[in-house]
Amino acid sequence: MQATIVVLPGDGIGPEVTTTAVAVLRTVANRHGHAFQFEEQLIGGAAIDACGTPLPEATLHAAARADAVLLGAVGGPKWSDPNATVRPEQGLLAIRKALGLYTNLRPVKPHAATLGASPIKPHLLQGVDLVVVRELTGGIYFGDKTRSDVEASDLCRYSVAEIERVVRHAAALARARSGKLTSVDKANVLETSRLWREVATRIVREEFPDVTLEHQLVDSMAMHLLARPREYDVIVTENMFGDILTDEASMLAGSLGLLPSASLGDGKVGLYEPIHGSAPDIAGKGIANPYAAILSAALLLRHSLGLEQEAQCVEQAVSDALAAGAFTADLATRGGNAASTQAATAAVIERLLGCQVLELRD
Ligand code: NAD
Ligand code: IPM
Ligand code: MN
Repeated sequence: MQATIVVLPGDGIGPEVTTTAVAVLRTVANRHGHAFQFEEQLIGGAAIDACGTPLPEATLHAAARADAVLLGAVGGPKWSDPNATVRPEQGLLAIRKALGLYTNLRPVKPHAATLGASPIKPHLLQGVDLVVVRELTGGIYFGDKTRSDVEASDLCRYSVAEIERVVRHAAALARARSGKLTSVDKANVLETSRLWREVATRIVREEFPDVTLEHQLVDSMAMHLLARPREYDVIVTENMFGDILTDEASMLAGSLGLLPSASLGDGKVGLYEPIHGSAPDIAGKGIANPYAAILSAALLLRHSLGLEQEAQCVEQAVSDALAAGAFTADLATRGGNAASTQAATAAVIERLLGCQVLELRD
């Protein structure tokens, strides 16, 4: 198949990890006769430096026309002056909003080989396989903001329609998996959460009667996620809770550098990015973990291009590389030589070349 993929490397380790994901996608294309066109564009701090804005028109235009967008990360100390009016992160929020990407899937499935990298006891991690469905274009991130010398405010608002559409997406996913959906809110305090709970209850009762819905307050959810992660399957929650819970959930997998994401809407284009940030502390050293970006490329193959078998091939190649011990420094539990970004990527590509699933489709 033919596809145009817009690549937004961004800042810090963003360019390092998107390079690896593109190398993996090129391998998939060569191996199976697809024609992927890659078009690189600016976002975040790199875009501020080049054009004074974190989301240039050309980037948004290219992304809107593409089949899929692959993003690294944005932000860093260079653009973190608290008095700055233009920030890299605004570019990321703006592209999500402009493309209507209201559903953010963040799968968490620890690999057997990396259980030792997690601070959680291995017996609690066995069999963990969950997906956080994070609402991505509403809530406190996008409400009105005010600032004076003596106070500041961020408005959190959600409409019924915004809650309905993301809950529908999550419930459909739950139906396709184990049939269990957990909705996370703070309904004991927040009005938006009381609306969220009411709408989630109605949508599941009326449209997904076969799905079992439970509600969980976000503070105890943060605890249960570490204490009994195996009991969760699909978790749906608002924008900020989803952001925080998924960085926490990355510790089930063993590193922030392992979790991918897919941002989807009703339109054709999807945006794929690791959940981690620009990691300024390790940027430029060639040691960033590329697996989250590579697994994001697998989600791109699955959700935007409909190439399920190729997606599975990439996921299997990552599992096999990890099983063979291709651990970057963030995963290495003992001393000794950790794999560089490049070595870990090479380990994946080597295994991808031997993938049987791709052969079977011919
Ligand atoms: P971060 O995710 O960048 O880093 C947190 C810690 O995890 C750091 O110690 C980092 O070295 C480590 N880490 C992250 N990804 C890694 C990888 N692939 N391999 C190895 N180690 C990895 O979070 P932060 O330090 O809080 O934020 C830094 C900047 O990134 C901020 O400007 C923030 O706004 C931005 N950010 C961007 C995104 C995004 O673009 N999607 C996401 C989160 C944070
Ligand atoms: C993420 C990031 C972003 C978010 C920031 C950089 C705007 O933390 O993608 O998880 O909060 O959504
Ligand atoms: Mn985040």
